[in-house]
Amino acid sequence: MQVLMVASECAPFVKTGGLADVVGALPSALAPLGVDAQVMLPAYPALFPLLPKGQEVARFDDLPGGGGRLVRVTAQGVTLLLLDAPQLFDRPGGPYLDETGADWSDNHLRFAALSMAVARVCQGAIDGYAPDVLHAHDWQAALAPVYLKMAGHSSPRSVLTIHNIAFQGRYGSHLLDQLHLKTDWFHPEGLEFHGDLSMLKGALMYADRITTVSPTYAREILTPAFGMGLDGVLRARADVLSGLLNGIDTEVWNPADDTALVQTYDAKSLKRKAQNRAEICARLGLDADQTGPLFCVISRLTSQKGLDALLEAVPHLVARGAQLAVLGSGEPDLEEGFRRAAEGNPGRVATYVGYDEPLSHLLQGGSDAILIPSRFEPCGLTQLYGLRYGTLPVVARTGGLADTVIDANMAAVLAKAATGFVFDDVSGTGIAQVIDRAAAAYADPKLWQSMQRAAMRHPVSWARSAQGYCDLYADLVE
Ligand code: ADP
Ligand code: GLC
Repeated sequence: MQVLMVASECAPFVKTGGLADVVGALPSALAPLGVDAQVMLPAYPALFPLLPKGQEVARFDDLPGGGGRLVRVTAQGVTLLLLDAPQLFDRPGGPYLDETGADWSDNHLRFAALSMAVARVCQGAIDGYAPDVLHAHDWQAALAPVYLKMAGHSSPRSVLTIHNIAFQGRYGSHLLDQLHLKTDWFHPEGLEFHGDLSMLKGALMYADRITTVSPTYAREILTPAFGMGLDGVLRARADVLSGLLNGIDTEVWNPADDTALVQTYDAKSLKRKAQNRAEICARLGLDADQTGPLFCVISRLTSQKGLDALLEAVPHLVARGAQLAVLGSGEPDLEEGFRRAAEGNPGRVATYVGYDEPLSHLLQGGSDAILIPSRFEPCGLTQLYGLRYGTLPVVARTGGLADTVIDANMAAVLAKAATGFVFDDVSGTGIAQVIDRAAAAYADPKLWQSMQRAAMRHPVSWARSAQGYCDLYADLVE
């Protein structure tokens, strides 16, 4: 089975969040199941070193925003198809934002070009390559199934995975022409969304299957509270929608063999976590002699993640004798808020504004708990890393967080099944309350250790969901 995946990021090459982790790990998890998944990505500067090592397999001269060539190269065990179109992708900054933090003004062209190139590959642009399934991820790839159908092709069959329905690729309808989209497809049953062009809606209408990254989120997005305006569209297509939980790359995220830790450990040597905690304290300037729990946050700093509410709870966290280490970047107000929280609570709160992959591993390795008070969370990966590292997740009951963490209620504690703390009220008060619960459990080392062991036993690999995707592809092809 040949699957052509398309996405705007892929770890370890280009990453801004969980999408990259998923696209980077899923192909290797599918390989043993007989699925050959190749991943099509824009050739951003970070990927330039790979271009000379690859082979040009196609050329296009009429994509939105100009021409490009496609280079196939294998790196880190994954076959990549890189769309080399310098006028769209050769620039500093991130995949979506320029150096000032603003969206690139031509993002519609950049990702339409990627999607159209994918559709062309599906129509035979690469000699000897005929994928059985097109698997598009998020809005940046959402036009791929649309272009394919527009060209009159119903094969290969297509899947769209929603990683976050808050991002929809919504643009003015005056761009239809530039994007080579037919105006007679611009209507409420097609590409139109409140008078605008919605790339994501296009895929929701024209892809053969829709998945999202957890069963709970698959239900939530059918409701107005979580559907971000697209719940009606999704309800109409509920028969082809399903939720498949993300897994993690258990080789990259393995506390027994993680070079970013100063001390590796496993479920039988949990005491060794202390050396990683000491390293965090030394590096971030936290007091090393505190006996309360060290909470960490590793996150994009956005309102989705509920971190404004966490800021309100910081005084309580500190008064409770706990410490907090924050690694994140994003909205300026939140960056500033956490910087100030650190300045106001020296030794107790530390903030590192930026993106730092090794530091994220060290924080998982040395913290006692990880805080994820999201308002919505399609899946979430940092709680899965937390489980694997015995760093107990403290999470809001939403999306994939609700599907992966077992709350330390009395019944779960007695059954030795509890793996973390789940709460409902994403507010300063709600977070203060759950911090109290976690701190009380931490004060009981036997209980805490038994929860850590249960967390580390929790299945987090891709095995189950890779089989789920495999079954879905097989079903589509039949
Ligand atoms: P989302 O995709 O919504 O950002 P996820 O929990 O699915 O949330 O994935 C976030 C990924 O990005 C995780 O791998 C996490 O470790 C990583 N991450 C987030 N912020 C940072 C940061 N500042 N530095 C390093 N890694 C980060
Ligand atoms: C999105 C979601 C996150 C999910 C990730 C990978 O960025 O916000 O919850 O884990 O995609 O699917």
